[in-house]
Amino acid sequence: MGVRIRLSDRLERAAGLDRVVEPLQQVVRKLPPGGVRDALHGVWLGHPVHPVLVQVPVGAFMSAGFLDALGADGATSLIGLGLAASVPAALAGSADWAEQHEQQMRTGVVHAAANSAAIGLYAASLLARARRRTGLGKALGYAGLAAVAVGGLLGGDISYRQAGGANHAEETPHLVTPGWQDLMPLADLRPGEPAKAAVGEVPVFVLRDADQVFVLANKCSHMSGPLADGELSDSVLTGGGEDRCVTCPWHGSVFRLRDGAVVHGPATADQPAFATRIEAGIVQVCLPGAG
Ligand code: FES
Repeated sequence: MGVRIRLSDRLERAAGLDRVVEPLQQVVRKLPPGGVRDALHGVWLGHPVHPVLVQVPVGAFMSAGFLDALGADGATSLIGLGLAASVPAALAGSADWAEQHEQQMRTGVVHAAANSAAIGLYAASLLARARRRTGLGKALGYAGLAAVAVGGLLGGDISYRQAGGANHAEETPHLVTPGWQDLMPLADLRPGEPAKAAVGEVPVFVLRDADQVFVLANKCSHMSGPLADGELSDSVLTGGGEDRCVTCPWHGSVFRLRDGAVVHGPATADQPAFATRIEAGIVQVCLPGAG
């Protein structure tokens, strides 16, 4: 375990990889914004869609290796399926990768290189099988499986150790005391000006808008960016009509102020949103599901 972490640390710090990361990031960011990119991130699903999509090629390639080892038929079809299913998985992974921290992107580019090597080896394996060079086809398939394993290890490192794709606001309900609690005097809030405050240990972003007060967890669910430093928009068309929203300053996720819903990714998890009320001039907050 220690060896793997040391290797992962080295990858994260390998600034030389930035020569590849930066131009690739520019290419991936040319993906159409809005619906297509949101779909690739998994906004519709509520968590990244890439780990779901990779199940198909990984499962197909592993099954093909198993059939080859048994000397059974069917590996060729499975490899074809795996190659076809790699396309949407790679697109979704690329969209997520281009909106991460530099350390995650360095590991991510090696993860992508391992997977690209796997795809090349499996394509060569298919070609060899088509030419009836079954032994070579099997050998190339096993080599592809080894590359898939390396890609998978690095993908796990990005997801779990580096928390790429994790919900960075998940801890909020566990840190907030259930029930209503005082936040701050209403008079301390200037209408239309974002403010920072804290509910217990949780930093929050507060906005007074006419007679309403919106309170969201300040740490963006995508990568912990500070929402209070984000841009406010007056009316964005969201699933529930036109709403006021805030855009995260780090990677541009857009959240609806009234309930924290993700309007645009890369975030996929909604932002924790507090219910608010005014009692004797004091803004009080309550987080549904806290505790
Ligand atoms: S931290 Fe990435 S969009 Fe907010």
